[in-house]
Amino acid sequence: MRIAIASDHAGFLQKAPLAEYLSSQGHEVVDCGPATDARCDYPDFGDKVARLVASGEVERGVLICGTGLGIAMTADKVPGVRAVPIQTVEFARLCREHNNANVIGLSGRFVSLMDNQAILDTFLTTEFAGGRHTDRVAKMMREDDPGFAGVPADFGM
Ligand code: RB5
Repeated sequence: MRIAIASDHAGFLQKAPLAEYLSSQGHEVVDCGPATDARCDYPDFGDKVARLVASGEVERGVLICGTGLGIAMTADKVPGVRAVPIQTVEFARLCREHNNANVIGLSGRFVSLMDNQAILDTFLTTEFAGGRHTDRVAKMMREDDPGFAGVPADFGM
């Protein structure tokens, strides 16, 4: 599988070992940065990976920040992306079976490298279950109604 990976400074330590692990499993890995552990902004890197997934240049995205939260939230803003922060193998299985997630947000500060490897294994090998989940995922992804996707005109920030 072709997989894009990125982190911020808080996830940087796990990025190279996880990328190497994925390569050792036969995957083609595209490293979207950063190149050093210098402080940086996770949205810059989450967005890069999300766009590669949305365009079909890669099949899946792997993102690592301190918690896995902000970088997954960023990626999920890109149309076509279903990004989730995941801390357990069981949720990795369910985000694939029920939600057909295509980007995973991992925690570099609260989850060990070994646990993240196991989470990634499950994320990459579990198929979408389809069936009753198909229409739900389609509803989630609809872009014609700003109530479901997109920002309503009166959304205050
Ligand atoms: C960086 O300190 C931290 O906020 C970031 O890595 C991430 O956890 C945000 O969601």
